[in-house]
Amino acid sequence: MLHVLSTLVVVIVAAGVMARRRPAIHLRLMTTAFLIDLGIVIYIESTRHAVERVVGPAGPLIWFHATVSTLVLLAYLGQITLGRRMLAGRATSRRAHIALGLAFCVLRGTNYITAFMVSSTSQTPMTQQAAAEMRPADARPAAAMPTRLSERE
Ligand code: HEM
Repeated sequence: MLHVLSTLVVVIVAAGVMARRRPAIHLRLMTTAFLIDLGIVIYIESTRHAVERVVGPAGPLIWFHATVSTLVLLAYLGQITLGRRMLAGRATSRRAHIALGLAFCVLRGTNYITAFMVSSTSQTPMTQQAAAEMRPADARPAAAMPTRLSERE
């Protein structure tokens, strides 16, 4: 589900860049992308305590992904500030908006790819240990498991 939402954000950002000459549409698309991304981060942090996983024993990939994700949110805030200045008539903000826009696209692309990598290798040392501790009880061969209720007593 989160990957679907993340894909939707990538599509919205691409549409927003294509609509860069139409400020009203451009602004709405980028603000929508920002709100969805912010919602994803709040959801992940509230349900999975992502920050504790990075502060605890976490692999370099999770570290990298968390750093890129934070930079993406900061780049959104920078783009919103620069965009508002442009709308207020500050022509000097345009070059900065283009440069940060490019950096943003690279960061958001990296975030998109590493999100798939993190979820496919999402076992931290802690969850691996927990899984190892649970295994002996579940590892009884199927033949040794009682099948009828009467055998279980
Ligand atoms: C991360 C999101 C964003 C990206 C990647 C982005 C990227 C861009 C790019 C590449 C341009 C074209 C610049 C040019 O060639 O002149 C542009 C224009 C512009 N952007 Fe953004 N932008 C983003 C968010 C925003 C936001 C949130 C606002 C408003 C608050 C905004 C306001 C504008 C305005 C006013 C223009 C000039 C449109 C025109 O040509 O009249 N942008 N943006």
